[in-house]
Amino acid sequence: MPVHEIRHPLIRHKLGLMRRADISTKNFRELAQELGALLTYEATQDLPLEETSIEGWCGKVPVERIAGKKITVVPILRAGIGMLDGVLSLIPSAKVSVIGLARNEETLEAQTYLEKLVPEIDRRLAMIVDPMLATGGSLIATIDLLKQAGCKEIRALVLVAAPEGIRAVEAAHPDVRIYTAAIDERLDAHGYIVPGLGDAGDKIFGTR
Ligand code: URA
Repeated sequence: MPVHEIRHPLIRHKLGLMRRADISTKNFRELAQELGALLTYEATQDLPLEETSIEGWCGKVPVERIAGKKITVVPILRAGIGMLDGVLSLIPSAKVSVIGLARNEETLEAQTYLEKLVPEIDRRLAMIVDPMLATGGSLIATIDLLKQAGCKEIRALVLVAAPEGIRAVEAAHPDVRIYTAAIDERLDAHGYIVPGLGDAGDKIFGTR
């Protein structure tokens, strides 16, 4: 099952705060970053380690370090920016690849308007960040694009996922693991997640 709903108490609590209709831009923004960091912690639990040694205060000390693939974080514009610093707070050396997608409000389909990928992306673990997995259109389009660029290992971090979106991503890309703070009830007629968070981009950027 490629979907991991993280039921950690801190995540449940912070997501509950984000659902308040009267939340301020400042609080919503801070919580999105904090949840980005907490989801990153969960999504990196299985990264392989290798043994090495360092010069410690009393001589050589065996230590471990993360081995293998380097990471690129892939925020989907614009709402993905709202989680980016949280992810980078735990993986500060990760390179950032930016994808710009706009949702056509009539067809609800994703259209790419920006694609700025880091070098050697085919040798990196890609961690996509986008707060809302609604229809799945943006996530599927981003995964398509990353796979075309040669990415072999892709994970997605989302704050809230709709069952419809999860099913669509699973059908198109069963190899991609999704980490989410909550799986909500459904999509409404406009493609918004219920109960969801409302328009996450507007709330992060204060444009509502
Ligand atoms: N995008 C959002 O910001 N919110 C939703 O509920 C769905 C898509």
